[in-house]
Amino acid sequence: MAIPLNQKSSTDTIRERFDNDVERFSNLQTGQAATIDAPLAMELITQAAVAATPSIKRVLDIGCGAGNNSLKLAQCSSGFHCDLLDLSQAMLDRAKQRVIAAGVPSVEVFQGDFRGIALPEQSYDVILAAAVLHHLRDDSDWEQAFRKIYRLTAPGGSVWISDLVSHESSAVHSMMWQRYGEYLSELGGQTYRDKVFEYIDIEDSPRPVTYQLELLRKVGFKRVELLHKNSCFAAFGAFKGAT
Ligand SMILES: C[S@@+](CC[C@H](N)C(=O)[O-])C[C@H]1O[C@@H](n2cnc3c(N)ncnc32)[C@H](O)[C@@H]1O
Repeated sequence: MAIPLNQKSSTDTIRERFDNDVERFSNLQTGQAATIDAPLAMELITQAAVAATPSIKRVLDIGCGAGNNSLKLAQCSSGFHCDLLDLSQAMLDRAKQRVIAAGVPSVEVFQGDFRGIALPEQSYDVILAAAVLHHLRDDSDWEQAFRKIYRLTAPGGSVWISDLVSHESSAVHSMMWQRYGEYLSELGGQTYRDKVFEYIDIEDSPRPVTYQLELLRKVGFKRVELLHKNSCFAAFGAFKGAT
């Protein structure tokens, strides 16, 4: 049975888990293996960011982990300032080191919960949020976080998200979860599948991509784009109007 939202992992527990998981998030070629199409999602959100803003000046990577998405962005855009934000200082240390080594000229780190950290509004040409928003909990939490992302985005800027998603219909959700289980079993066997499902149940509260696209429009984004969806994973984004 699904764990109620108020009994899911606290941010302290999530931070501790990721403090001890830096290596798993440090492979740019594969991304995180438990994510279906992880390399494709990284490519799509970063290429879409560059297509949206050919000359990117300032980037925010929310829940940057070890920096894979900012690194991927640095492969197709140069000269941007990168703000890396994560709960985990261990992740930030790794991300900063890798992003600087990739030639990004200016990097700042912000340690803490995205929801509570003060950041410059109307400033970011590109905001990346990969595999992090599924930690948001109830409707109000999702809406406040999306409103904050909107406020931080520069006029004409865009946000690009890739994440674990649920589905509006429980029948389709079960079917997709079954398919994801098969993927995990092929990857690491049934014990691995059960372990991943167990921590998703304890720690994650994903929402449908349809819900998130609607919410992006509701908070003010002018256009939304679905880049990719496969089973329980999606990549998508939204553009803020020019003024
Ligand atoms: C699954 S990892 C993804 C890392 C990276 N974005 C990637 O795609 O490789 C999620 C990261 O989000 C961070 N995180 C989770 N909740 C957060 C929050 N509320 N504020 C900031 N970071 C958060 C975790 O510490 C972790 O490093």
